[in-house]
Parts: sequence; structure tokens; C-alpha cells
Amino acid sequence: PRNVERAPDGALAVAGLGVRDIAAEFGTPVYVLDEDDLRSRCRDFRTAFADVDVYYAGKAFLCRAVVRMIAEEGLHLDVCTGGELATALSAGMPPERIGFHGNNKSVRELTRALDAGVGRIIVDSFTEIDRLTALARERGVRPKVMIRVTVGVEAHTHEFIATAHEDQKFGFSLAGGAAAAAAFKILDEGVLELRGLHSHIGSQIFDASGFEVSARRVLALQGQIRDARGVELPELDLGGGFGIAYTTQDDPAAPSDLAKRLRKIVDAECASERLAVPHLSIEPGRAIVGPAVFTLYEVGTVKSVPVGTGGDAADGRRAYVSVDGGMSDNIRTALYDASYSATVASRASAAEPMLARVVGKHCESGDIVVKDEFLPADVQPGDLVAVPGTGAYCRSMASNYNHVPRPPVVAVRAGRARLIVRRETEEDLLALDVG
Ligand code: LLP
Repeated sequence: PRNVERAPDGALAVAGLGVRDIAAEFGTPVYVLDEDDLRSRCRDFRTAFADVDVYYAGKAFLCRAVVRMIAEEGLHLDVCTGGELATALSAGMPPERIGFHGNNKSVRELTRALDAGVGRIIVDSFTEIDRLTALARERGVRPKVMIRVTVGVEAHTHEFIATAHEDQKFGFSLAGGAAAAAAFKILDEGVLELRGLHSHIGSQIFDASGFEVSARRVLALQGQIRDARGVELPELDLGGGFGIAYTTQDDPAAPSDLAKRLRKIVDAECASERLAVPHLSIEPGRAIVGPAVFTLYEVGTVKSVPVGTGGDAADGRRAYVSVDGGMSDNIRTALYDASYSATVASRASAAEPMLARVVGKHCESGDIVVKDEFLPADVQPGDLVAVPGTGAYCRSMASNYNHVPRPPVVAVRAGRARLIVRRETEEDLLALDVG
């Protein structure tokens, strides 16, 4: 987070509050949210994408307090399940600023969205169009929809691949003609109000050229729809996926640079298709909440073991530093081989660095939080370790594996900590057992 510094006693402090105080009050592990950081990232996007609607992708992390923060900062909200929708509504998110995603929305979820009056429903299949059309007819309403287009662009971090085939579950195929057919169907039936096309090409993307190819392809479809039906769709959503720095090797683009590139390509493409420039929206999740959070753990054991073949430790040993959480609060290392860093947060140390692996308390050896890190050689039980960049897809993908209760989320601002999601208890876990 932006507002983290070493206090005079050598411990880390966030927004003026020391990590030892946070651990003493809320226990560990705990997700610590730097609220001003999150808000400033919302503002960075809003300023950079001045006339663009910025939908915060709630799948990255959602709770009522965060819904209120992003709403106050003028963002919209992307939800993709009934559960996320319920959280958004219960926090008072204006429904017209909610976009509802998902490749398999149930009748119940669609009904809830219609009854609430959500601003956009991003339709993902012909079945869904029929389902929504029937529900809208019954209710005599005309929901605003966008079509999720599968553009044949796959982007992951530093690379993207543009292909003609689109072998995945989301959206309507562009190359196969399904996207155009979906647009014609909605326009011809006239029950749903088609506002525009939507594309999302991946996540943790550093190479903006994937967005350019994608924008070019959806705008070509936009031109095709205009030619066939005489309708110019007024909106275009380019999705999310903007990468963040997990380690010092990552170098993400600033929102202002991204905004300029996207604007340029959309303007150029619209000019060549002779289209009016549609109103744009984007859906960043990770880039808003990811860097604003760190997880604070307490070290329980430290074990020095010989490094296996291919190890890079000079003396052939590695320290396994076990913390009081693990893959239940951060599955990303195990699931995606994601890279994180770690630092001893509760004190300064002048000890030599040693090769370490931060591991959890779960019953499997893949339970790794940080694969390779240099920690001071005197790291010991009782130390607090901070892992930064855990705001996105950590709490939201947390599990109860091994019946470990999920950690709380604490928002810190101006030297004060506020519990925004409480720690799960053993009673919570047992509450679902019947008999
Ligand atoms: N919009 C749509 C339609 C999406 O599917 C997603 C992410 C986003 C926006 C937000 O993407 P972001 O800006 O946060 O990258 N669990 C994975 C990431 C899955 C992303 C799924 N969709 C991870 O931990 O890396």
C-alpha cells in the first residue's frame, strides 16, 4: 500500500498505525486495507478515464464497506453472482450503477436484477437472452443489456495471443458469427434494450496491445450491426484486467497511459468504421484493490532444510517460515504459481538475508504463500510477516480448508483501524453442520 512506512521502532506502520497494534487488536492472520490507498486508486482511474464509466470488478474483493468506498469515489460496480449483487444492494449501491455479469445466471438471479433495476445486464448466451426476454415481458420492463463478445484475444501478463478460434465458456463468438446473431436477435425482438458490446480479454495484463486488437474487433462488429440494422450502439465496455506489481520485476502501466492508448485506438477505429465514438466503460478489479491490502501473519516455526536439486541458495539451505494462515487465505500461489514478496513487519533486523519460503499451516506441501524470498536470518516465532498486494482474489477466493476460519479485513485510515469483515469463528464453521 501507498501509506506504509517503517516507524521509528523499526516496525511497519500503515496510515500511521503500527502493525503490532493491529495484530494485538485483531489477531493474525489479518488482511489490512489502506483505505486512502484504495480511494486514491479509484480516483486515479476516474481522473485518467475522465468520460469513461469505471466499474469496480467486485470479484476481486467485495464487502459492504468497500462497496460504499467505491460508490463514494464515483465508481460503478461489476457483480457476477446473486451473492455479489446482494452485497452491493445491501450496501446501498445505486442499482443503476451496477453491471451484472455471468455465463450462467439463474432465473432467480435475473429476477433479482430486474426487480432491483440494475443498470446493465451483460448477456452471455442465447439461453440467457430468451430467459431474460421472458422475464422482462412478464414484468413489462425493458432492461438495458450489453453483449459479451468473445473476441479471440487472450492476454496474460506480458503476452497476448490473437486467434480466430475462441475455445472457452464466456460470451458469443465473434469469428463464428454468434455475436452478430445475438445482436440481431435482441434488436429484432425489441424487448431488451441493447446498449452495446462488451469484451474482457484476461487478467493481470501488462501488454496493452491486446486491448487494441480487441477494441478493433468489437468495433468492426459494431460497424457490421450498423450496416445490417441501421443501429449504432451507444456504448462499449472494454473489460478489466489491468496488471499490478506483485514483485519488483513487474512494471504496470499507469492508468493515464492506458487511458490514452485505449482512447486513441477507439477513436481511430471509429473513424475508419465511420462510427460515432461510443460511451466507454472499463472494469478494473485487481488494479483498484490489489495493491491497497497486505496480509499480516505471525510466524509460528522456522525450519532450515537442504535445498533440493536446482536450488539457488549459496549454502544449499532454505528456511521454511510457517505462518498462521496459508493457502486458505491466499490460494493464488498454489493455483496460479503467482509471485508475492514478504517482509518481517514487526521489527527491523540487521541480520544477513537468507533464502526463505513462507508457508502456511495446511496439510499439504503445496501450501506456499511466498515461494522464494530473502528474509533476515534471525526471523523467528512471534515475528509478524507482511505479504503485500493481497487485496485482489485472496479474501474473495479464501476457503475453509482444514477448517481454518477465514481472516478478518481491517481498514486503516488516519491512524485508526476499523473492522470491516470480522474473523470467522469455529462456531461459524459448525453452524452449517446439521445433526
Ligand atoms: N470484468 C470481467 C468480465 C471479468 O471477468 C474480470 C475478471 C474483470 C472484469 C476484472 O479483472 P481484473 O481487473 O481484476 O483483472 N482469480 C484470478 C483472476 C480472475 C479474473 C476473472 N475475471 C486471479 O486471482 O488472478
